[in-house]
Amino acid sequence: MSKITVFCPATIANVSCGFDVLGLALDSVGDLMTVRKSTEKGIRITKIVGQELPLETEKNVAGIAGNALLEQSGYQGGFEIEIDKRIKPGSGIGSSAASSAGAVWAMNELLDRPFSKLELVQFAMQGENLASGTAHADNVAPAIFGGFTLVRSYNPLDIVPLPTPSELVATVIHPQIEIKTSDSRKILKTTISLKKGIEQWGNVGGLIAGLFKSDYELIGRSLEDHIVEPIRSILIPLFGNVKFNALEAGALGCGISGSGPSIFALSKGMETAERVAQSMKETYTGIGIPFDVHVSRINTEGIKQIG
Ligand code: HSE
Repeated sequence: MSKITVFCPATIANVSCGFDVLGLALDSVGDLMTVRKSTEKGIRITKIVGQELPLETEKNVAGIAGNALLEQSGYQGGFEIEIDKRIKPGSGIGSSAASSAGAVWAMNELLDRPFSKLELVQFAMQGENLASGTAHADNVAPAIFGGFTLVRSYNPLDIVPLPTPSELVATVIHPQIEIKTSDSRKILKTTISLKKGIEQWGNVGGLIAGLFKSDYELIGRSLEDHIVEPIRSILIPLFGNVKFNALEAGALGCGISGSGPSIFALSKGMETAERVAQSMKETYTGIGIPFDVHVSRINTEGIKQIG
């Protein structure tokens, strides 16, 4: 095989209580990427459609992540990458992660899979480092592993794939304002009180137990974030209203997707998720900010070959 086209899913990082450690992959939103083997050494980004992004390898997250893999591979040739960028940068649904993870996943396939998924996450994290100044793994891990993932530890990197209850559906509203992850990280406090820690790790444990038990009520009770959400939500117009209305419409829980401005809700069943989508649209209609709303099942497969 000398060429591959892949679907690179959007992802929801943090999932409320799990700042930098929890994430999930979506099914209905993502980028397309075509990667070709070439005899010329190095990575070349030959085409990007959909968004204005740099073609220079060193300035593009796919180029940086791809180079990290290439350096470890011993492969003497190179790769050409074409990106159909459907996830807007700065949207909070893992735009940089989709490019970083998609590039290394596709290259690994073309080289007959010399690397494990964990190693691919490590390469893709280099792209995240370029995008946000931090090599966080909570978007690239679910993109590569699929479903929900936990970053149990960063040093050494330890990723735990988690089960996905079959009726869980995500609704995401993306208000079309850009919030850079690097900026929304700068406003966070670097210390938390023991009281807040206790609340947060109780919720992380509860959410994970809820996923294992397919206990939707427990999942809902655990989708709480008393540390990051109160600070970042200030940057998102009508966050409180969207959340209140989503919960009224039957969502199990609602919070900021990644570093925002997207807001996500998880629901049991498609019907409720659609009702939540309607409530989000109604909340944002008429305020002068364009938005997209996505309803998606959880993508348990992650990045996949489509051509
Ligand atoms: N955990 C990261 C953050 C995700 O919240 O800054 C960014 O998508």
